[in-house]
Amino acid sequence: MVINQVVENLNNSSFKLSEKKELTEIFRKISKYESKEDVLRLLGIVCCKAIVGPAYFHLDISNSCNLKCLYCWFHSKDAADRYYSEEWKKKKIELRKFKELVDDLDELSTELIFFSGAGEPLTHPDVIEMARYVKNKDIHLQIFTNAVLLNKDYSKKLVDMGLEELYCSISASNSKTYEELHPFSGKNIFKKIEDNISFLSSYKKQKNKSLPRIIIIEVINKLNYRETMDMLEWANNVGANEIRFQLMHNIKLKNIMLSEKEKTEFNDILKKVKEKANDYNINIQNNINVQIKSFEPKSGNWEANFYKDKGCFVGWYFSRYWVSDGISFCCAHKIIDSLEDKRFKDIWLSENYNKMRVIARDCGLKENFVMRDGNLLLDEECEHGGNYDLNRSIYEKLKKYGLLRFIR
Ligand SMILES: C[S@@+](CC[C@H](N)C(=O)[O-])C[C@H]1O[C@@H](n2cnc3c(N)ncnc32)[C@H](O)[C@@H]1O
Ligand code: SF4
Repeated sequence: MVINQVVENLNNSSFKLSEKKELTEIFRKISKYESKEDVLRLLGIVCCKAIVGPAYFHLDISNSCNLKCLYCWFHSKDAADRYYSEEWKKKKIELRKFKELVDDLDELSTELIFFSGAGEPLTHPDVIEMARYVKNKDIHLQIFTNAVLLNKDYSKKLVDMGLEELYCSISASNSKTYEELHPFSGKNIFKKIEDNISFLSSYKKQKNKSLPRIIIIEVINKLNYRETMDMLEWANNVGANEIRFQLMHNIKLKNIMLSEKEKTEFNDILKKVKEKANDYNINIQNNINVQIKSFEPKSGNWEANFYKDKGCFVGWYFSRYWVSDGISFCCAHKIIDSLEDKRFKDIWLSENYNKMRVIARDCGLKENFVMRDGNLLLDEECEHGGNYDLNRSIYEKLKKYGLLRFIR
């Protein structure tokens, strides 16, 4: 019973007796609506420690990539966010290390793993074996890919193993725009990608399977926002189930980030796209609403002040592995520890990690934390973090259940 764990953790906390009683009743109520793991994550926020593993884990399996997207933080020829050496770009996780990490995540009750990161997952020669390893543990799996290497063999294996979601990053509706945004990709790549995704869709139909859901990612910028409606048509033609629009953020490419006027234009087109998407039964993910509302064209930031005003709670729900550096607090370079000589479960449950969680939760008002890689835990990266929708949803839960007053 989760309530026994609640009582035990509250008994070991420094809350006053009356607060412990009040919190027990609140958590009794929460346990009717939330999974056992989510009850323990919310309890962890209140008790300043991790009790259960991250719900979501961002697992980089390969730093190498077969494209050089114009805007990519890692592989863009001229606009990468820092210098990445050729050696760094070749790094891939070893199968043994991967299995150890997934074993730990399984033991800690992680619900979802996604292969994405600083490179292209399909360039890892063991990607199918790795995906199968996750699926055999019954953990929900998502793979982010540029779909160039999504050949028929891979498609069949991914469908057959029950992969839940395949995110395909495209950012264009025709080969001209594709080539502009993906220089050096070659002439016929757009057509190849179209054929690859279409094959996967048809194989799903042939096997009478609804999974994996195919989600097209469109990174929106000055060069492609006018073709948003065509992106929907293209997504429908290749048999996609969803579209995730995300605004491009790259401070070195300010010239192609949307201006205020273009953002408004994009929003007007998006409203029509959403209506049409209903007819096609294609879901448009909600993340874009928050981005449009809070995107500041000058800085390229969104939700810039959310963590300063409300706090950052992702330390209980999310973690990332960078192939090159180790375990990170969030999507950004916030390295906590290396996996070279430690297990993930020991890092996740460590006092050090708990300290960072609480500093971020408390908006960094009293102190900040210098990470292993020299970056600060709370810095300007938090002003356009990748976890904006997750953080907001955790905050809303804390508010709904009346827990905010116990952490402030
Ligand atoms: C870095 S990629 C790695 C996975 C895979 N190679 C891919 O492209 O899907 C992860 C995601 O980041 C997105 N991305 C890269 N640079 C971006 C930027 N400057 N702004 C917004 N999204 C970006 C990509 O489009 C992709 O959806
Ligand atoms: S495919 Fe992904 S990792 Fe490769 S350059 Fe493009 S965004 Fe970056």
